[in-house]
Amino acid sequence: MALSNSRSSRLFHLVAFIFISSCFITQLKGARATAELASSTTVDDLEGFPDLYEASVMELQEGLDAGLFTSVDLVTAYFARIDEVNLKGPALRPVLELNPSALQQAAALDAERKVSGKRSLLHGIPILLKDNIATIASEGMNTTAGSFSLLRSIVPGDAGVVKKLREAGAIILGKANLSEFAEFRGNLPPVGSGVSASIGLVTVTLGTETDGSITCPTDHNNLAGIKPTVGLTSRAGVLYAMASKVIPISEHQDTVGPLCRSMTDAAIVLSVIAGKDPNDNFTLAQPNVVPDYTQALNKGALVGKRIGVPREVFLNPNGTDPSVLAAFEEALDTIRSLGATVVDPANLPSAQQIAASKNETVVLDVDFKIQLNAWFAALIENPSGVRNLAELIAFDNANPELEEPTNFTDQSEFIESEATTGMNAQYFASLAFDRELGATSGIDAALKENNLDALLLPAGGLTTVPAAIAGYPIVTVPLGFYPENVTIDSAGPLTVYPAPGVPFGLSFLGTGFSEFDLVGFAYAYE
Ligand SMILES: *[C@@H]1O[C@H](CO)[C@@H](O)[C@H](O)[C@H]1NC(C)=O
Ligand SMILES: *[C@@H]1O[C@H](CO)[C@@H](O)[C@H](O)[C@H]1NC(C)=O
Ligand SMILES: *[C@@H]1O[C@H](CO)[C@@H](O)[C@H](O)[C@H]1NC(C)=O
Ligand SMILES: *[C@@H]1O[C@H](CO)[C@@H](O)[C@H](O)[C@H]1NC(C)=O
Ligand SMILES: *[C@@H]1O[C@H](CO)[C@@H](O)[C@H](O)[C@H]1NC(C)=O
Ligand SMILES: *[C@@H]1O[C@H](CO)[C@@H](O)[C@H](O)[C@H]1NC(C)=O
Ligand SMILES: *[C@@H]1O[C@H](CO)[C@@H](O)[C@H](O)[C@H]1NC(C)=O
Repeated sequence: MALSNSRSSRLFHLVAFIFISSCFITQLKGARATAELASSTTVDDLEGFPDLYEASVMELQEGLDAGLFTSVDLVTAYFARIDEVNLKGPALRPVLELNPSALQQAAALDAERKVSGKRSLLHGIPILLKDNIATIASEGMNTTAGSFSLLRSIVPGDAGVVKKLREAGAIILGKANLSEFAEFRGNLPPVGSGVSASIGLVTVTLGTETDGSITCPTDHNNLAGIKPTVGLTSRAGVLYAMASKVIPISEHQDTVGPLCRSMTDAAIVLSVIAGKDPNDNFTLAQPNVVPDYTQALNKGALVGKRIGVPREVFLNPNGTDPSVLAAFEEALDTIRSLGATVVDPANLPSAQQIAASKNETVVLDVDFKIQLNAWFAALIENPSGVRNLAELIAFDNANPELEEPTNFTDQSEFIESEATTGMNAQYFASLAFDRELGATSGIDAALKENNLDALLLPAGGLTTVPAAIAGYPIVTVPLGFYPENVTIDSAGPLTVYPAPGVPFGLSFLGTGFSEFDLVGFAYAYE
């Protein structure tokens, strides 16, 4: 099923949607007949309703409230679509595991909706979680971070964000694939939440970012994504969050956020998962009231605002692809036309130092080992027997058929982290330098010196770094697509980037806990 906007194709998707949602209960000939016989609604009732590739949370809520379909139908349809493309057909492999309890949970939530209405905008909405976000094992799913060393391990319980999702009535559809240990171990091809959201395998997804892992898949998959301030969303029960090839994982940088097909969907998800959690003391520093981020979705949000462009280091004609540069210049015109003043350039005073600094690596190498070992220690059971980073390195070497196939043997980042000896003076100095470079003489200085409301950059390149080391938010929306004649480049084993038609995004950056403003600006642009 190729994506198409033609009317006949659209109708096919509607029919296919209903067919899929009922084909397990009735053996009938033909999708249309199936739909009309198996359901009290007909294809005509769904005329004009968007297909599941594109359907938004609000649209699905309208359909659910009107009784056009149920959450059981949704889960069934998504399961069927995942089955078609995950391991079969194009074999995209973004989904690791489906929730064997999802249909039962959907049925209970359908019944509750009938009796007492919906708990939240996520009531009965399927969500896919990156598989470093813990879900209670009794539900039936693993939490592996993509490693066989964690297969069938028993986590202590749901992650903090998962508890909030369940309270809001969301349905955990399954777990998304990820580069092993969130790309900390080495250069492995990433695939996961971003791909699943982009190709409509689920309504919304959660990812995690240490430095780039929400922003970059949002950039590469034509999505709307929010990397929240560290401490806005709980990391309790999250086995860190990494993107960059060079740097590991950290309690000082990890954060959990949504990757969705629209800023509206992302704002709905963030409103549910944000908030304090006694199991993650970084969240205790956030403002007392969690904003309703959907209230930020205002087309006039950019009127009278001042948006700065920190060109130095982050946007240079020698480093940034010409098609990205051209699309970015057009975006600046759009931002002006939406009523904002563009201040250009508005450089980070620390830009050159950020480009040269290895402080982030020092911090993350130390944090990774401490947190990984704590994760293994907290497991109630781990059949692989692995209990710490040293044993994980040995496990990978002892199981090459699982963990070290040809061209994927690299464990150098694990080994570097294993060699660290805890939070020493160099670690604390690097942590302080990061704060200084990213926040005080970085993002905050640029905002203050130029009296700005936000900074704007293409999402790629070094854009994620200052926000990563400061623990600050990034909100990203689609910007454009690489042209047909772009030079295809290798991005590690089995991976190319860029390539013709590959999307790229636009990122809004701000100070800590400025998500409400950034969501508004990104929505106005989107
Ligand atoms: C997860 O993604 C990786 C990288 O694309 C792939 O090699 C692996 O087979 C996927 N895992 C599953 C279970 O599909
Ligand atoms: C984990 O995955 C294995 C292998 O696919 C499966 O047998 C098991 O039921 C899953 N769930 C848990 C909680 O281990
Ligand atoms: C969180 O708690 C740990 C130890 O329990 C402490 O070392 C750390 O400073 C606390 N962090 C914050 C941000 O409160
Ligand atoms: C781009 O490269 C040219 C030639 O090497 C150099 O003179 C110029 O300073 C560079 N510009 C930037 C913004 O780095
Ligand atoms: C950390 O940042 C400071 C300030 O820019 C710099 O002097 C120092 O060399 C950096 N350290 C590392 C390990 O890069
Ligand atoms: C491993 O990488 C080399 C060099 O890039 C390549 O020629 C070879 O085909 C790869 N092998 C496999 C099994 O992917
Ligand atoms: C690609 O095409 C555009 C527009 O036709 C042209 O300006 C550009 O130079 C081309 N780029 C390459 C790498 O050939």
